[in-house]
Amino acid sequence: IADIKGGPDEGLDRVGQELLVRGWVRTSRKQSSITFIEVTDGSCLSNLQCVMSSDAEGYEQVDSGLITTGTSLCVEGILVRSQGSKQKVELKLAKLTIVGQCDPTTFPIQKKRASREFLRTIAHLRPRTNLFGAVARVRNALAYATHKFFQENGFVWISSPIITASDCEGAGEQFCVTTLIPSSREVGNSPVCTIPKTKEGVIDWSQDFFGKPAFLTVSGQLNAETYACALSDVYTFGPTFRAENSNTSRHLAEFWMIEPELAFADLHDDMACATAYLQYVVKYVLDNCKEDMGFFNTWVEEGIIDRLSNVAEKDFVQLTYTDAIELLLKSKKKFEFPVKWGCDLQSEHERYITEDAFAGCPVIIRDYPKEIKAFYMRQNDDGKTVAAMDLLVPRIGELIGGSQREERLEFLENRLDELTLSKESYWWYLDLRRFGSVPHAGFGLGFERLVQFATGVENIRDAIPFPRTPASAEF
Ligand code: 4AD
Ligand code: MG
Repeated sequence: IADIKGGPDEGLDRVGQELLVRGWVRTSRKQSSITFIEVTDGSCLSNLQCVMSSDAEGYEQVDSGLITTGTSLCVEGILVRSQGSKQKVELKLAKLTIVGQCDPTTFPIQKKRASREFLRTIAHLRPRTNLFGAVARVRNALAYATHKFFQENGFVWISSPIITASDCEGAGEQFCVTTLIPSSREVGNSPVCTIPKTKEGVIDWSQDFFGKPAFLTVSGQLNAETYACALSDVYTFGPTFRAENSNTSRHLAEFWMIEPELAFADLHDDMACATAYLQYVVKYVLDNCKEDMGFFNTWVEEGIIDRLSNVAEKDFVQLTYTDAIELLLKSKKKFEFPVKWGCDLQSEHERYITEDAFAGCPVIIRDYPKEIKAFYMRQNDDGKTVAAMDLLVPRIGELIGGSQREERLEFLENRLDELTLSKESYWWYLDLRRFGSVPHAGFGLGFERLVQFATGVENIRDAIPFPRTPASAEF
C-alpha cells in the first residue's frame, strides 16, 4: 500500500493496474449495494479503500458480516480513480478471500481510541493501532539513518558483547548472568533447573558465568574503544541493560544505545559529531516519513514538525557546567533539589535549561566536575573537571552522554586508584594506553529517547516494541 499511496501521484500513476493486496480490515461500511472496506498492510499509515459490489467473488462473506475490524484478508482487483474526496485511488474488487477471522466482540482494538496505559497491557496487539504502527516505522527509519550517517562518514560498525565482566559506568546498575544448574527431574518434582547456592543456602554469585561473575552490559563503550584504537572511527548499535529501579517516562531496563568512538579526536570533535548526527537523523525522518510525521503533528505533539525542522537547521547551544550552574543560581525558579557547583543536574534543572533558558533548543553542557562522572573521562587541566559533555533536549532531558577518554596511562591508573577500582580487572583497557595510545572521544545516545524526541511520544515505554521496566517484562 505504501508503494501505491506513497507514489508521486498518490497512486494515480498506477490506475488501471491489476493488484493483489494482503492486509487487515480497518473498517468496513455498507452503502446500499456497495461495500467499502478500508484495508491496511502496515506499510504506511494510509489505508487502501476497497470497493466491492455484490457480483464480486467472495461477496457472501461480506453478506454474512465477517468483514470486521482486524480480519486478515487478501483482495484482488483493479486500481481506479476514486469518486470520493478523501483519496485519489481505490481498489475495485474482483475477489476477496478471508485469511483469518477476527471476532469483533472480543478483539481488544476498537475504533474508539484506547489509552496508552491500556495498550501497554496488550503489547502484542498494539502495533495494529495507527500510533504504534507509525512509531515502529519511524523507529526503523531512525535506525536506518543511523547506519547511513556513520557508514557515509567512514565509521565501522562494531558488535559489542552483551555479556561482560566489566561495569563501564561504574555505577553498579548491572544485571547478573546466572548459570542455572540442571537438577534431576523426579516425578512430581517441578523445578528442572536451580540457581547455584552455597552450603548455607544463599545464592552463589561466584558461580554465575561458568564459574566467573558476568553481567549484562550497560554500555559497549570500552569495547568500542579497543576497535577505535585499531580501526579509527567506529560505532556500536545494540541493546544495553540497566538495573536501575526507576519507573520514569525516560528509563528502561533494556534499551538500545548508539555509541560512536572517534580516534585522534577531542571533546570538540565529539560534540561536532553528536550535532551532525542528530541533525542528520532528524532531517532524514522529516524528509522520508512525511505521512507518519504529519500524524504525530496532529495527534501526538502539535508543532513537532516545526520543532524538528529547527533542530535540523539551527546551531545548538553550548555552555560549560560551571556556566550552567551560574545560570540556574541566577534564575528565580524554586528548585526542589538545591543547586551548587558539584551537584548532578536533576531533571528539573535540565528542563529549566532547555525549556526556559534556551526555549526549546538542544543544549550541550561540557566540562563536568570529575566527582560526578565516570572513571574513564579525561581530566581537564584545572584538575577539577573532566572533558565530558551531555546533550539535553526539552521534555526528555539527557539524550546523549559522552566524553573525551583519558588516554594517559598514569592519569587513568591514578583515577582507578582514587575510586578504588581494580587495575587488574581493567588490564586490557589499560593496555590501550600502553601500546600506541591516541586521544579519542565518543558518546552514547539512548535510541528510545531519540524515538521519543522524533515522534513526541511522552513515555519511553511507547518508543520500543516490548518495554522492559521494573513493572513489566511480559510478552
Ligand atoms: O550517559 P550514559 O550512562 O553514558 C554511557 O553509557 C557512556 N558509556 C556512553 C559513551 O560515551 N559511549 O548513557 C548514554 C545515554 C544517555 O544519555 C541516555 O540517552 C541513555 O543512554 N540512557 C537510557 N535510556 C533509557 N533508559 C535508561 N535507563 C538509560 N540510561 C541511559
Ligand atoms: Mg549520562
